[in-house]
Amino acid sequence: MDYQERSRITLDYTGMISSSQNPQGFLLEELLGLQNVLDQAQTSLMSQRDSGKLDFSKLLASMKDQVAEIIDYANAMAPKYDNFVVLGIGGSALGPLAIHQALNHYYYNELPPAKRGHRPRFYVMDNIDPVRFNELLEMIDPHKTLFNVISKSGNTSETMAQFLIIRDTLRRVCGDHYSEHIVVTTDKEKGNLLPIVLKEGYQRFVIPAGIGGRFSELTPVGLLAAAICGIDVHQLLEGALMMDQWIRDSKGVLSNPAQLRAAIAHLSWQKGKNISVFMPYADGLKTMADWYAQLWAESLGKRIDRQGRVIHVGQTPVKALGVTDQHSQVQLYVEGPDDKVITFVTVEKFKETQEIPIDLELPEDIQFMGGRTLEELLLAEQKATEYALTLAGRQHQKIILPTLDAYNIGQLLLLLEWETAYMGELLNINAFDQPGVEEGKNGTYALMGRKGYESRKHEIEEYGKTRYSL
Ligand code: PA5
Repeated sequence: MDYQERSRITLDYTGMISSSQNPQGFLLEELLGLQNVLDQAQTSLMSQRDSGKLDFSKLLASMKDQVAEIIDYANAMAPKYDNFVVLGIGGSALGPLAIHQALNHYYYNELPPAKRGHRPRFYVMDNIDPVRFNELLEMIDPHKTLFNVISKSGNTSETMAQFLIIRDTLRRVCGDHYSEHIVVTTDKEKGNLLPIVLKEGYQRFVIPAGIGGRFSELTPVGLLAAAICGIDVHQLLEGALMMDQWIRDSKGVLSNPAQLRAAIAHLSWQKGKNISVFMPYADGLKTMADWYAQLWAESLGKRIDRQGRVIHVGQTPVKALGVTDQHSQVQLYVEGPDDKVITFVTVEKFKETQEIPIDLELPEDIQFMGGRTLEELLLAEQKATEYALTLAGRQHQKIILPTLDAYNIGQLLLLLEWETAYMGELLNINAFDQPGVEEGKNGTYALMGRKGYESRKHEIEEYGKTRYSL
């Protein structure tokens, strides 16, 4: 495949490579020196893919076949409802939110219905703060709302609690028709949600067994929400498939984008860069940084390696937004501890433009911007920040999206997912589990009185007896 055929993401890693301006950067040889390890990683990943462990890649093509069912359902539901509310958390919420913000109008919910293509408003309830929950219920009419309960495990306390509240509300308000207002996205066979779904007859979509939460955006988890809010899910999948194939087909760190980013991350990590900053210069990508942060943190923050040795690895992801955080965090990036790698994400062509008016009466120090555009100013600020970092000897790289559209966002998702998988190989860890999160989930079950967790409850209560507070 010629990966130049259609618009595609570009990786600019100049800011990582040693030069007269950036003597602390890597030598290209250091990247090339990782090739053997990357080849082994590739072999291992491809065999994991064959054995059903990397279904975020393997099932992409079959998602394309399933998408018709999702679109038909979405198109049938969209005109019936004013609101579409996702109830989910972590991987079951961040993807739908990120895609929506990237591809729909920034003020989508505030648009008049005709400007939304008569599609429902979109809300993601990814927390259990009672104030926010009640305030959402105040905003929406349950008769006019479709709730999408998303939980891979079907056991997550937060989502199940939300589901129980909503089910109760709908039963009271909508009577016998309550189940029409609930669509559930969950595992095909497992979890406590499934028997309720089957008994009460909700519409159901399946999250394939081999795809973990944070890798599940391009399954019904994200595709349903996207389709219902008018996003071109075919193009999302097309872009993802292109990136997937590019990554699987290319050999060599300088031609394989996931290998390149993982190699850079790994070398940086070895050189004490414990923090990975993800800094898009487009407001539409603000929640993409949240999605990336979960992917990177939950996949790579691990205590033990595959042989069970204690290693405590993982870069801490930091979310930032250009240019806003230039006035908040960049001071630290330029002059604080040299422990970060910064990934800028830029968009070459914005879908809107805004010219800054010319006013010759103004002082020259303001006048110079007249006749230029906001996007020129934004990109100038990004380049200037890059330069300031380079002068300070700080490492940075860039992911460049030609435009913010579904095809390019599909590429970005797959790039970051594969990069994470490669990084897991380089760190010799399992990037697809989350034992640290499970511990907290079990503790919650215990404290909330779930049967079978009594001794855990006792342990937690004992631990909590001695308190220091002021
Ligand atoms: O990536 C993950 O696996 C997690 O973040 C889960 O998505 C999150 O814990 C929610 O789990 P579930 O979808 O099972 O309710």
